[in-house]
Formats: sequence, structure tokens, C-alpha cells
Amino acid sequence: MKQEPIGIWDSGLGGLTVVREIRRRLPGEKLIYFGDTARVPYGIKGRDTVRRFARENTAFLVEQGVKALVVACNTASSLALDLLREEFSLPILGVIEPGARAAAEGTKNGIVGVIGTPATVDSAAYTAALKALRGGLSVSSRACPLFVPLVEEGWLDHPATRLVAREYLSPLMEAGVDTLVLGCTHYPLLQPLLQELMGEGVRLVDSAEELAGELSELLGSGELETSDSEQGSLEVFVSDLPLRFRQIGESFLGESIENLTLLDRKEER
Ligand code: DGL
Repeated sequence: MKQEPIGIWDSGLGGLTVVREIRRRLPGEKLIYFGDTARVPYGIKGRDTVRRFARENTAFLVEQGVKALVVACNTASSLALDLLREEFSLPILGVIEPGARAAAEGTKNGIVGVIGTPATVDSAAYTAALKALRGGLSVSSRACPLFVPLVEEGWLDHPATRLVAREYLSPLMEAGVDTLVLGCTHYPLLQPLLQELMGEGVRLVDSAEELAGELSELLGSGELETSDSEQGSLEVFVSDLPLRFRQIGESFLGESIENLTLLDRKEER
């Protein structure tokens, strides 16, 4: 069990923000990442489609012999985690529960904001998880569909991004949130801008960071074993556009991507 890899998948390259946090916390682990670049974005697709993709992506990583699975995509974690836990027998972590836990524990005034893709926000998965943890919380959610392309364009502090962010965040500011959950893989890259706009008094919760903490607890709990190697590794598979993935992905990951393979999954598209 010790030497088996951890599988992580996302709709595309955004999940590399989750990989970055896992590498930071668990540098000795072997990681296998799958980015479904042929079918991204998931955040504007319907529930049944996302659940079908989630099942296929998970099956692929399970075939690679992973000891645990991380669904890095907030959209898929919102819409498909129940199905995956029912159909697959390995430990499966999503990003919703860790993010919701950190927000529920951290809020002082009990007013929490959540931003994510339209599918994540429509599913109300964060709201349900937050209220299950602390019934009295008030939750304001806002879909921010333009953030994903802006981040992929590299416009992390561009006037256009500022304008869009102001528009998206203003109802959350009016609601008086003191905690804001970054409920999408791409949003950690906007953290400095979002913090500036929300003000220092608002705590931003990075679901990727929280998930990495939860994974390291799981590995230390005896349910699974931590790798005893000094140096971990990262193997990446994508379903399309490997060059673009490498080019943009390295800024999400904060390191170079050496081991990248294009999968031929034509029959599934
Ligand atoms: N990975 C998705 C998420 O975290 C964002 C990109 C997409 O829409 O597929 O929700």
C-alpha cells in the first residue's frame, strides 16, 4: 500500500492547484493526475454529463492501481462524489467537505460566501455541507463563470478581471460575509486580487489547501499508509492539448511538468 500512487483528477488543468498543495504537504507521495482537457469545462454542464465523466475518469485512475482518489474539481465534487463513493471501494476525497469545514469553523459572524462555477453553485453542495456542519450559518453563493477563462488567460491582476470580480463580489460584500470559500480550482490564483477587493477582514478559504490537510490526516490515520520514499513523483495524463496543458499548467503547479502523456479516449467523448 505504501508505494502505491494517489490518483487525482480534474476537468482540466485547474486541479494542479490541488496537486501543488498535496506536493507541499506530502512530498514523498507518488501522484498520478488526469486532466480531462478534451471535455473541459465541466462547470457549465449538466449533472448527468458530469457524473458520467466522473465515473470514467475515476475508473481510469483506479486501473492505474491508486491507493486513494482525490476529485480536485469542485464541480465534479459537488455533483458526483456520492456516486463515486457508492461505485468504487477505495477512499475518495472531494474538495467540498474540507473547504466547508474550514469555513464553518473559521467564521465569526456566521455569514459565509461561496464562489464557484454555475454547476457548483446550482448544486448547493457547499451550502448543504456548511449547514450540516453548523445549522445556523447564513450562506451567500455566487457563480463566477468568467473567472475560469480569465485565469487561463493569465489575467490575474488585469483591469478586466478587477471589473468582473467587483461585479461578482459586490452582493457577497453587501451580505456581510466574513469568510469566502474559493470553490473552484482556478480561484486560488486570484487570491491576492480577491483578498484586496474583499478587504483584510474577510478570510479566504482555499479548498485545495484544506483538502491537502485532510489527505495528509487520512494517510497518517492508519487507514492508508504514507509513502516512505524521500522523493515523490508526478505523472500526468491528459485527454487533449498536452502542449497547452504544459504551458499554462506549470503556472498553476509552480513547477515544471516532466512526465506528460496524451491519452487516446476517443470512444468516450
Ligand atoms: N475544475 C472546475 C471546478 O473546480 C473549473 C473548470 C471547469 O469548469 O471545468 O469547478
